[in-house]
Amino acid sequence: MIKTDVLIIGSGIAALSAAAELAKYKTGVTIVTKRMRTDSNSALAQGGISVALAQEDDWRLHYKDTLRAGCYLNNEKAVERLVSLAPSVLIDFMAAGMHFDRNRRGELLFGREAAHSLNRVIHAGGDSTGSKVIEQLLKNTSDSEYITIKENEPALELIVKDGRCFGAVTRDIKGNTNIYAAGSTIIASGGIGQLYPATTNDKSITGDSIALAHRAGAKLKNLEFVQFHPTMLTIDGTAYGLVSEAVRGEGALLVNEDNKRIMLGVHPMAELAPRDVVAREVYAHYLKGEKIYLDISPIKNFEEDFPTVSGICKEHGIDLAKNLIPVAPGAHFHMGGITAASDGRTNIDSLFAIGEAACTGVHGANRLASNSLLEGLVFGRLTADHIIDHPSEIRETEPELSKVKVNAAAFPSKAEIRRKMMEFVGIVRHRSEIQSVIEWFEGFMPPEGCVNADYTALTNEEIEIYNMLTTGLLIARSAAERRESIGAHYIVD
Ligand code: SIN
Repeated sequence: MIKTDVLIIGSGIAALSAAAELAKYKTGVTIVTKRMRTDSNSALAQGGISVALAQEDDWRLHYKDTLRAGCYLNNEKAVERLVSLAPSVLIDFMAAGMHFDRNRRGELLFGREAAHSLNRVIHAGGDSTGSKVIEQLLKNTSDSEYITIKENEPALELIVKDGRCFGAVTRDIKGNTNIYAAGSTIIASGGIGQLYPATTNDKSITGDSIALAHRAGAKLKNLEFVQFHPTMLTIDGTAYGLVSEAVRGEGALLVNEDNKRIMLGVHPMAELAPRDVVAREVYAHYLKGEKIYLDISPIKNFEEDFPTVSGICKEHGIDLAKNLIPVAPGAHFHMGGITAASDGRTNIDSLFAIGEAACTGVHGANRLASNSLLEGLVFGRLTADHIIDHPSEIRETEPELSKVKVNAAAFPSKAEIRRKMMEFVGIVRHRSEIQSVIEWFEGFMPPEGCVNADYTALTNEEIEIYNMLTTGLLIARSAAERRESIGAHYIVD
């Protein structure tokens, strides 16, 4: 049994932001992460971080834009907390060493993204914001003797008894089962992108947070809201990586093969309409077999301003001199997740959820661009502050490991799960059809339902598929429950 004040599952921006804050107060923190410490959605983020730091901006405008993009389904208090604290948290982060892009006069550069009423997105290394932020946070945390990071160690189950979490069970790289006795446990292991055939997400993001939390009795919320990014570089039906919305923010246009703009007349903000609107429009053309492109000719220094996108394009044979990048939508962000307060608290004592794994309600039915790194940074810190102010003692509780057998031999392939997700709970949904996919998922669950399994009998790959099946089922059930078509939950019947 390994004892630690705080156990953090995951290593993205929310996890590292919480860890850095906890370590300031000499709290012992152990981070367990499924793959390497840099394998996260945060590290892949391109656009940036939205924050009302520009002279003409005000957090109240940021608040309004966040609610409008979220179709007013947001938790207003949580939004207010996020956007009003954002300026001071970002200033602190810069003081702790983070460099955002600036002009020659040393002033921050603010980019534009969809549904923002003004330029508000700060970025680093052009479109390499996520990797620069993670690099800085890892540097800050590696300076601390209070933080240990364990890689290639997926969490198998949470140890919960009588409404309190006592830690988690993991499997390390040698295949050993480790039991962590933790005062507080934080789930920060991201979203669900790899449940879909095309996604901007890291390979490790297979819905584990939701499955783990559900099996432990944590409440979940808004699972039906899955945001699709309108523009992934897509060649012959295969998606190769994100083409940041900041590219449209700098003037790129969405055009068809005849060079006609497809967003004109669809929404007053055209290419910069809320993401769900743009994704649906691009998808409708794509389904008709039409090719859609980002025309980047309005951007003067494309390769300089967008080195990450340029690199992805070149790697896949796109000649940027032709100014056309072929695009289609891909699963990007999960607005739903583990029901959590802005300081990470869940319905289970001593269990916290932050970042994309959590549903704090800030994103409503559709997230405003570049609010996700922000949420990880701000709420990661608030969660750490809550834990510092309310420390929980470590209790060594030997878990009773589950003996439930799941029939892994009957599991479908990951590709099959992804096809089903896209068809039934993708960009466009038919209420009348969702029940059939619920039944399909249920067919793979043990008679006991979505419960912890006898993991000793399962490989890591099989556990990942079990988590995908569990999370897919829960998303489909939530989609069946919401009757209205709103934001990213778009139903046609
Ligand atoms: C992007 O760069 O387009 C993604 C930004 C975000 O999802 O917030």
